[in-house]
Amino acid sequence: MTLYETIFKRRSVRKYDMTPLDEKTLDDIREFITNTRQLPEQNVRFEIVSGDKVKGAAAPHYIMSFCSPGDAEYANVGYILEKADLYIQSLGLGSLWLGMGNPKEKEDDFCIMLAFGKSDVPFRAGEQEFNRLPVNEISNSDSELAQAARLAPSACNSQPWKLFFADGRVTVRYFGRGLMKMILKSKMNKIDIGIMTRHVVTALENEGKQIKSITPKTSGKDFEIEISYEKG
Ligand SMILES: Cc1cc2nc3c(=O)[nH]c(=O)nc-3n(C[C@H](O)[C@H](O)[C@H](O)COP(=O)(O)O)c2cc1C
Repeated sequence: MTLYETIFKRRSVRKYDMTPLDEKTLDDIREFITNTRQLPEQNVRFEIVSGDKVKGAAAPHYIMSFCSPGDAEYANVGYILEKADLYIQSLGLGSLWLGMGNPKEKEDDFCIMLAFGKSDVPFRAGEQEFNRLPVNEISNSDSELAQAARLAPSACNSQPWKLFFADGRVTVRYFGRGLMKMILKSKMNKIDIGIMTRHVVTALENEGKQIKSITPKTSGKDFEIEISYEKG
């Protein structure tokens, strides 16, 4: 499965076979993350650890992320780790974003973790199995790209975004929804904006578009990421 195809099949997996993955698979995943380009001026650190480093572990492996606090920093973590999420599931494995997960040893710059491992939980059969907002509530236009982006995961499925399509440009803007926005606003929802950015970029690349720049912008309480691409 390509990463784009995985967008339509992935799911949050909460039940794992606790048998550790082989070293080669772990090395592949580690290398994949290391080779994933971060957003401009960002330098988040990732570590793959086994369950014994995590409080109440329910998966054999975890990717932990560490960064300084900030909107662009959190969005960068979402952007990189969502690529890892898609990659891991494209290998036929399960994964789960874990905003509630805690390392056993407290580390000040810890951001979030992603659980992964073997699982018998089936992939989704297709778009119809996703519980998501209709495209007209999250986007100023309907297209195959908007439909793929709409399937991005978010903390508590809060989908805190709006997409604006313009000539050679897509903007992912933070848009808090309902009660959840009070709880998730500061960190989780910024990670979510990075996750959505990854889905948009993956769908653009699937259409053969060349990405020119990806720019996070904070202005007062507003946060957005502008993706610009070669129309080709
Ligand atoms: C940033 C983030 C944090 C999340 N934290 C948790 C968590 O702590 N526990 C959990 O069971 N699911 C967690 N999830 C999974 C979401 O609930 C899930 O992605 C969403 O409901 C959509 O479902 P899907 O991933 O199966 O498409 C998190 C997801 C994201 C993106």
